[in-house]
Amino acid sequence: MDLSTRGSEMPASPLRRLAALATDAERRGIRVLRLNIGQPDVPTPSEVLEAARAFRGPVLGYGPSDGLPETRAAIAEYLAGVGSPVAPEDVVVTTGASEAILFALSAVCDPGDEVLVIDPLYANYIGFACMAGVRLVPVAASPEDGYRLPLVARLEAAVGPRTRAVLYSSPSNPSGTVLRRDEVAALVDLAARRDLFLLADEVCREFVYDGARLAGALEVATAAGEAGRVVLLDSISKRFSACGARVGWIATTNTDVRDACLRFGQARLCAPTLGQHMAAAGFRALPRFLPPVIDEFRRRRDVVLSALSRIPGAVCPRPEGAFYVMPRLPIDDADAFAAFLLREFSHGGATVLVAPGTGFYATPGQGRHEVRLAYVLGSPALEAAMDLLVRGVEAYAGLTTRGT
Ligand SMILES: Cc1ncc(COP(=O)(O)O)c(C=O)c1O
Repeated sequence: MDLSTRGSEMPASPLRRLAALATDAERRGIRVLRLNIGQPDVPTPSEVLEAARAFRGPVLGYGPSDGLPETRAAIAEYLAGVGSPVAPEDVVVTTGASEAILFALSAVCDPGDEVLVIDPLYANYIGFACMAGVRLVPVAASPEDGYRLPLVARLEAAVGPRTRAVLYSSPSNPSGTVLRRDEVAALVDLAARRDLFLLADEVCREFVYDGARLAGALEVATAAGEAGRVVLLDSISKRFSACGARVGWIATTNTDVRDACLRFGQARLCAPTLGQHMAAAGFRALPRFLPPVIDEFRRRRDVVLSALSRIPGAVCPRPEGAFYVMPRLPIDDADAFAAFLLREFSHGGATVLVAPGTGFYATPGQGRHEVRLAYVLGSPALEAAMDLLVRGVEAYAGLTTRGT
């Protein structure tokens, strides 16, 4: 029996593709330092874990489909505090930002509709678009330009009769680029002129370095009188270092979008109840928890950039946020390079696992010279991992120039 087209075309996660090779390497006794997955290694705040332990109900039941009232209230209060004013009723709690992305695409697009994305992009947008039957239309950014927002004229040229939205992340996964206020304003203006939604993924909002602050899409659109075009996609995963709680949300003042998302939510009953208790408690911890975490990630970014500067021919813009970088390396094939690191290369009994750039492009064939690194290791493991990467590039270059 045949699968559906979407069942056949749904891509495997590029982050998982190399997992089997990494396990093989470990079986051979090689230590694998992982820079491939964006799961922060920072301990989850005690308030968040304590909220799970303190749960006392006789039954861990379903909650309301749009979220527990206290969780929605805590999210709205938090968003108002970061300049994105919404009421608790504007929030639909989801199973991570992942479900928020799927709900938002499904709420604003019919199958066959188009959504503009900036290439490179968060890899799972490709999978969610496949699930929702949406065609992603990529507009290329480049490392030479710091992966900044492509010129609005180029974005606008990609708008067609079926374009419904622009979907983007800022701070960006995979590049770490943080859109400036004028860039977000340009997106809001484009959306207003061409009657589009802005699906703004801000899961890494606070991970912004060097004293900068993210100008959020809701904040900028509210100032422009266009708040109803923005669907904010967000979660506690990164900012609470609580990826496993599976709590995210959609926040939008657009009542039609919100009601559609609520009806999608009713079909899956509710987001995790225990996770929502953890989330509600966690916002109180943020002012204490985040500042040292941000300092730590800024230090790590600098370690990564300094190591990359030792690779002749590498191009790596200085990312302003998130915990990812996407350098262009002097390699001919990122997938072969990542596999080489696991199969053939080791130094001092260790190697490094990176995510090939090809998985982060909606345009087939792009990303062959790039890798994405998530700096989710502390010192000294991060220094060791970057040293292995520098040596790995050298060894791979020697191999390919010899033609083997
Ligand atoms: C940009 C971006 N959006 C969404 C997600 C999904 O996050 P969640 O754990 O909330 O589903 C991630 C996770 O890495 C991400 O980097």
